[in-house]
Amino acid sequence: MAAPTPVDSYPTPTSKSQSETEEILLAHLPTAHDPPTPQLQKNSHLQFVARNLIQGFPARYTSQDASQPWLLFWTLQALSMLQVVLDPNNKQRVIDTLLTFQHPEGGFGGGPGQMPHLLPTYAAICALAIVGKPGERGGWDAIDRSKLYNFFMSLKQPDGSFTVSRNGEVDVRGIYCLLCVATLLNIITPELVEGTPEFLASCQTYEGGFASASFPYFVPDPSNPSSDPKLLSSPRPPLGEAHGGYTFCAVASWVLLKPFIERSPSKTSINTRLLTRWLVQMQGMSIELGGFKGRTNKLVDGCYAWWIGGCFALLKELGEERATDDEDEHEAGANADEDDTDGWVDDEEIEIDDVWNPIALQEYILYAGQHPAGGLRDKPPKGADAYHTLYCLAGLSAAQHRMNPDRTRRRVLEALWNENSKEGESENWWAKDVYTRFMSWSEAARKKRTLIGGEGNRINATHPIFNLTATHTESIMAHFYRQPTPP
Ligand code: FPP
Ligand code: ZN
Repeated sequence: MAAPTPVDSYPTPTSKSQSETEEILLAHLPTAHDPPTPQLQKNSHLQFVARNLIQGFPARYTSQDASQPWLLFWTLQALSMLQVVLDPNNKQRVIDTLLTFQHPEGGFGGGPGQMPHLLPTYAAICALAIVGKPGERGGWDAIDRSKLYNFFMSLKQPDGSFTVSRNGEVDVRGIYCLLCVATLLNIITPELVEGTPEFLASCQTYEGGFASASFPYFVPDPSNPSSDPKLLSSPRPPLGEAHGGYTFCAVASWVLLKPFIERSPSKTSINTRLLTRWLVQMQGMSIELGGFKGRTNKLVDGCYAWWIGGCFALLKELGEERATDDEDEHEAGANADEDDTDGWVDDEEIEIDDVWNPIALQEYILYAGQHPAGGLRDKPPKGADAYHTLYCLAGLSAAQHRMNPDRTRRRVLEALWNENSKEGESENWWAKDVYTRFMSWSEAARKKRTLIGGEGNRINATHPIFNLTATHTESIMAHFYRQPTPP
């Protein structure tokens, strides 16, 4: 029987809104009369997203004028997970629209003529991964990778972080967006990411999750305010509190940086155990079903199904590689007893699905996250919107599927890479490593079955790092890794 969160005799705005939320959610909990198999209303969600794309977004979205690539990405990726492919005319419309967001000096803005920014750049490139194809008209070869790389480098700060735009703020969302794009388009280089792992590590808070940034990298000397600002010494305190959105960005960024971290002499690390503990504590219990909140003492919200639920698929990729080249050594469990407090000491024994509850997460999405008129939402009685529709579906997908790096597949990719690289051609070690590593993620069997509500509820798997299907990830990477890097 679901019980409310206990309260003491000091009601606060926080405890009141928690109780109000629980009261509303209680009305959405399954009763003895409900069918035992909650259904995903695929058709009505499909109509909700398709209507926005075909007829245009309703007027209330005008406030998102600077997020036009995001509106497209949320819509297209929701369609991909719902197993829908756009017809060629609509694909071309989307490609042509996305290309109007590209800035003459590199990168994408939130709309035509808007300044380039890391966040819309991620959304535009992911949207192009879904609808685009090789060639100028297909969009992919109209991306100016050379200018994009220069744009990225122009945002780089001395501490390894990046501002989100020229003179903009620094935060880990921007770093995640930059690293995804640089990885997908084969413009990632050691020079681009130098110092970035150290910056990310400095954003982990005492709770275990990640804050948006760490304390500003420059401080003026208080005794001499006119002097040049100084770089704060390391370690610097995180700026703000641990939050699901930033935590996903930091964790996925860490995984994207692994090829560089593994070869770096600096022993920067993040605390995976503390992170896991925090992630687990964000999952609801009882009346909140298995929905996630984004931060301590805040309310459950469907979008954290992805921002936090999505982190579990990445946890095993955070620690040290045990044996990079020698598979036999790995299989024999070499180093399994090593005392390594930052990586998994005993990750062979830990089954990630035992520390969180993917079934309960699906229950939250299916019972509370679906709007009766189509689309998905934060929580009842709120309306559905494009953002929550995508991230509720992505979280549902993460709960239904398990995607892991597949060693055998990686070896095949490496062999193909070696076969195709021309004799005497100069080659950067990182291109092969990045390509084979992130292309090798594929669906793996789970020890326990997690799908609830029957096969009709199943949606497509999404890549735990990029939030694109494996097919879209593979197509765009295969295209750009045939071309030299950096451009
Ligand atoms: C708090 O909102 C929200 C934030 C502090 C930022 C959230 C960041 C993300 C969702 C990540 C975005 C990722 C990319 C790649 C752009 P709130 O106070 O309304 O919500 P809360 O009460 O749930 O914290
Ligand atoms: Zn939300």
